[in-house]
Amino acid sequence: MSLSFEGSVVLITGAGGGLGREYALAFAERGASVVVNDLGADTKGGGKSSAAADKVVEEIRAKGGKAVANYDSVEEGEKLIQSALDAFGRIDVVVNNAGILRDRSFARISDLDWDLIHRIHLRGSFLVTRAAWNHMKKQKFGRIIMTTSAAGIYGNFGQANYSAAKLGLLGLSNTLAIEGSKYNVYCNTIAPVAGSRLTEDVMPPDLLASLKPEYVAPLVLWLCHEACQENGGLFEVGAGWIGKLRWERTLGQIVRQKNKPMAPEAVRDQWDKICDFTGATKPKSLQDSMALMMNVLSDVESEVKANPTAAAGSISPTEAVGQKLPPTAFTFTHTQCILYALGVGMSTKDPDHLRFLYEGHPEFSCLPTFGVIPSQSALMDGGLSSIPGLDIDLTQILHGEQYLEIYRPLPTSGTLTSEATVVDLLDKGSGALLLLDMNTYSGNELVAYNQFSVFVVGAGGFGGKRTSEKAKAPIPPPKRAPDAVVTDSTTKDQAALYRLSGDWNPLHIDPSFAAMAGFKAPILHGLASYGFAARHVLKQFADNDPSRFKAIKARFVKPVIPGQSLQTEMWKEGNRIHIQCKVKETGDVVLAGAYVDLHGTSEASPENLTRGGALQSDLVFAEIGRRMKDAGSELVKKVNAVFGWEITKDGKSAAQWTIDLKNGGGTLNRGPYSGKVDVTFTASDEDFMEVVQGKLNPQKAFFSGKLKVKGNIMLSQKLEVILKDYAKL
Ligand code: NAI
Repeated sequence: MSLSFEGSVVLITGAGGGLGREYALAFAERGASVVVNDLGADTKGGGKSSAAADKVVEEIRAKGGKAVANYDSVEEGEKLIQSALDAFGRIDVVVNNAGILRDRSFARISDLDWDLIHRIHLRGSFLVTRAAWNHMKKQKFGRIIMTTSAAGIYGNFGQANYSAAKLGLLGLSNTLAIEGSKYNVYCNTIAPVAGSRLTEDVMPPDLLASLKPEYVAPLVLWLCHEACQENGGLFEVGAGWIGKLRWERTLGQIVRQKNKPMAPEAVRDQWDKICDFTGATKPKSLQDSMALMMNVLSDVESEVKANPTAAAGSISPTEAVGQKLPPTAFTFTHTQCILYALGVGMSTKDPDHLRFLYEGHPEFSCLPTFGVIPSQSALMDGGLSSIPGLDIDLTQILHGEQYLEIYRPLPTSGTLTSEATVVDLLDKGSGALLLLDMNTYSGNELVAYNQFSVFVVGAGGFGGKRTSEKAKAPIPPPKRAPDAVVTDSTTKDQAALYRLSGDWNPLHIDPSFAAMAGFKAPILHGLASYGFAARHVLKQFADNDPSRFKAIKARFVKPVIPGQSLQTEMWKEGNRIHIQCKVKETGDVVLAGAYVDLHGTSEASPENLTRGGALQSDLVFAEIGRRMKDAGSELVKKVNAVFGWEITKDGKSAAQWTIDLKNGGGTLNRGPYSGKVDVTFTASDEDFMEVVQGKLNPQKAFFSGKLKVKGNIMLSQKLEVILKDYAKL
């Protein structure tokens, strides 16, 4: 379908000739009502005439188009927009195009040369756009073009004034793109090349004639069409070619160490690394930029060696940590739930199992550990290899540990989306340990959280830290005889069955592949044993009720050969059931440091807490309180600060919390607090939840005013330690 501008009102500045005229004709031809602005100045900004604009208006009208002329300088921004409103009643598109040149070598630029260029290009575009802005916001539609130049992007001899003003327009556009985006007001920047009177002195006549303005106009039309969703882009355009530009940044180098001054010599010595574009990244936003600084601060604080990329070159925690994999969707029906239940050894021999094996059962449910499946399928997509700073050999990966937490019983069909974030990358010497957090949502609701600990053999020695406060640690069982032991057999086809749930690694089915990997036979999936152990606990201590299941953690120690028997030993300590899983025939421990957390039968469920207008954030703080009991003193050592939180609801203060990680073993306090608070954060209940669930980046929340910070702002980098890990809700 052709792009129509019927009903749109378009203002083009400097449209009396050159590129502007071409835009005006092209918009009018496609039905737009056009305001043709031109001061009729000479190329240096001198003189004034209405002839240029009038001529273009005549041309448009002669072809049956709609146009009016405006002869004001762009420095009178309001008047230009008023012309549009007077003639056509609205303003949809502004193309900031007017321009002049006052080229001089830098030493010879006069104040006037500098100021005039800035006044027409930068200030003029600002004034015209500001005058249109509120109209566009109100009507929830607007398209704005800024015109920069290759001279601004790359520099050009004799054009210091022009280069500065032209690149200023890109900065302006970058921010307008952010401020306008939620109102469907988009701003893009073009760097055109075309023969015009501005370029006639710099280009030979033949070239001038062949670089036609009509090879630029179609880009402007597309960017200004309502169907175009491009926002904040920068394009070079000319001769019928269009390209998009973006920033690139080297992996860079940390040149300071904890508690030591930063020296220029360190900068000199690392200069090649600082400037080496190998593996460069493409930061897209201020948040991307800030996130890196925050990571550097915490890396330096936790005494990561100064040169994280030095040894391996291809592994960089600074780059990789914080990166997200593209979200993936997992659609399933009861078939997958049943197949999974069979994969982890459920059988109709046990009448209790029927609720997991028969979709017609009145209590048909999905096993809680099915929660690893959607996230595992997200990993299987191979997205890991696209993460910058994580250039690893994917064939050298071992699944080390797995933590899974379920926030509500899993549905038995539907679509779940999973989003993975690299939360840490540790240097274990012989290998690298990658911690991946994966949130799984049903619609907007977080239903499950997984943490994968993945060991990459041979990728260590890059100088990274060895431990992470973000890791969900395994916990050894109590030193007493287990309270219960369940023995279960696996069948010869257990792995063949389990793999149908989505782990297609040939290691679990192909004898020759298994032999190459050093096993005498294909081995059972670690996550299959994990499922066995979890359901043993569920049956033994929770009456097979999936709603009682909260979380499971396990470390995979040794493989199981299908056909061997699994023995799960269980110790009950309150709502935590410690487990150890062995191969009965050999006595080898296969799952270690493992536990299942159950909800107590009378414990407040999320529904109970949020009912009756309670705050969602209360839940998070309750969770923080619980975790502080486990790890309080360790956190005090790491964080050593007092955080205040002010949670608002409907614009009013609704709750105050203080997390004291400085005194004693750490305390959580609701309500007024008598001690000294180092930093206070204010956020609405909703925004707080968005941040906690990782849907709203804290820096972004801060820059958009959703998260206010009072006090020692540098402490906000430690927030992550508390929120991200301790409030996965
Ligand atoms: P042009 O000189 O043909 O068109 C510029 C128009 O702006 C003229 O008609 C002029 O009267 C008008 N103008 C000047 N001051 C004004 C003011 N204060 N208020 C209203 N109108 C005013 O030049 P061209 O080449 O069509 O340039 C259009 C835009 O593209 C300019 O912003 C220029 O800097 C930019 N550009 C052009 C390149 C090219 O290769 N032609 C290269 C890079 C950028």
